[in-house]
Amino acid sequence: MASAKAEFLKKHYKLGKIIMNYMHDGNDNRHIIEADRNHVWHHLSQHKQYETVDPPIMVEGKGLRLWDIKGREYLDAVSGGVWTVNVGYGRVSIADAVRDQLVKLNYFAGSAGSVGAALFSERLIEKMPGMSRVYYANSGSEANEKVFKMVRQISARHHGGRKWKILFRERDYHGTTLGTLAACGQPQRSADYGPFPPGFVEVPHCLEYRNQYPDAPDYGLAAANAIEEVILREGPDTIGAICLEPITAGGGVITPPVGYWPRVQEICKKYNILLHIDEVVCGIGRTGRWFGYQNYDIKPDFVTVAKGVASGYAAISCMITTEAVFDLFKDSPDDPLNYFRDISTFGGCLSGPVAALENMRIIEDEELLENTRVMGERFMTGLNGLMAKHPVIGDVRGKGLFCGAELVKDRITKEPMDEKLVQAVVKQCMSDGVIIGMTNRSLPGMNNTLCFSPALSINDDETNQIIDTLDKALTSVFG
Ligand SMILES: Cc1ncc(COP(=O)(O)O)c(C=O)c1O
Repeated sequence: MASAKAEFLKKHYKLGKIIMNYMHDGNDNRHIIEADRNHVWHHLSQHKQYETVDPPIMVEGKGLRLWDIKGREYLDAVSGGVWTVNVGYGRVSIADAVRDQLVKLNYFAGSAGSVGAALFSERLIEKMPGMSRVYYANSGSEANEKVFKMVRQISARHHGGRKWKILFRERDYHGTTLGTLAACGQPQRSADYGPFPPGFVEVPHCLEYRNQYPDAPDYGLAAANAIEEVILREGPDTIGAICLEPITAGGGVITPPVGYWPRVQEICKKYNILLHIDEVVCGIGRTGRWFGYQNYDIKPDFVTVAKGVASGYAAISCMITTEAVFDLFKDSPDDPLNYFRDISTFGGCLSGPVAALENMRIIEDEELLENTRVMGERFMTGLNGLMAKHPVIGDVRGKGLFCGAELVKDRITKEPMDEKLVQAVVKQCMSDGVIIGMTNRSLPGMNNTLCFSPALSINDDETNQIIDTLDKALTSVFG
């Protein structure tokens, strides 16, 4: 055993480089699978299953195609599992940009600037009228935490500590840290991890399919007015900000109802509440515009982006804000505490901004926003076709290449489908070579929405393959 391991290491680690050519070599694969089984703790996974089945290990990707360690090919309809790889796999130009940067200078703390960070912030701001400052970090959770800290500091320094509360919405998700879990509208994500920091207050969701105000003439207005009710209950002068996804992602792909956003914006203005849009999923093209909020004519005070910023080629997130907010952190330079006293060590990794720059160039040169709008419509047409055929689909929702299909036991009662059967559909698609997603550990009884977020470069054939595979899986699970 020891010598097999030594041989493996000799073969694969040369001059400190890991040679990634083990894909179809059965013996080596076994070694890796066992190393994974014995030592890797997979994210968001119950590990008992891996005592009897091999854990999944992905090794290679090109475009939307992906291969696992056993050589099985998949079409990835969820961009790396968690709607991240917006420009698809195998982008050599991003890898080259990252390599060139790393050999020139890999790192310096974000207290200093860098060429990539300066150029990417300029390109980003060009696409975000009204915004002017970019703060670099390395995950969506972290970028959201930056906003929460800024809101608290603005409250402390400019509102006598009063405007300290932060609103969040039922079914939204903003990250995995204790601060972002305090702002989590998905109780299955936050359960067991409390107590959480105080001052985070939930407002109702805006999923029209599950209308909480059946007597209201206008659902969009009613859902937004429900936010105002919470504000009035808590006291408007205690609320500093509201954090919302433009389209709720993991909580069920919830596209906002007509009339919702203009009223939300009005409410924020009326009570002097800062509007924080979490674009971690929708940002950088997913909905067919650079940002999800740009579909709804919103003027945010904070925007956070992560996943698609560099499509997973580097770990980078950004917190973007206005000059008005920025000014609040430099108005008393003689006061040693009068600035944003925060640092993100890996927010200073220089590979992030250069990967993000190249990612953005690809989206522009290949006209991927346009492709997202066109293919998104075809995808929705495909899902609507399946809905006409399969009564188990109660609702389809989406914008651009960000789509969901909610499965129900009965279209009249809208009783959610059993989670295990929804999982069976995902599993069937996987064994037929297509990776799709579903709402996972979100709200009790509500893990019943299938999710789709393919790379923005998807073509007709790939779209058809996803829809056809889903059709077969629905037939196989539900008849
Ligand atoms: C809307 C939203 N915000 C924030 C996050 C957290 O991002 P990260 O996992 O990079 O911390 C996620 C992750 O899925 C997300 O979906």
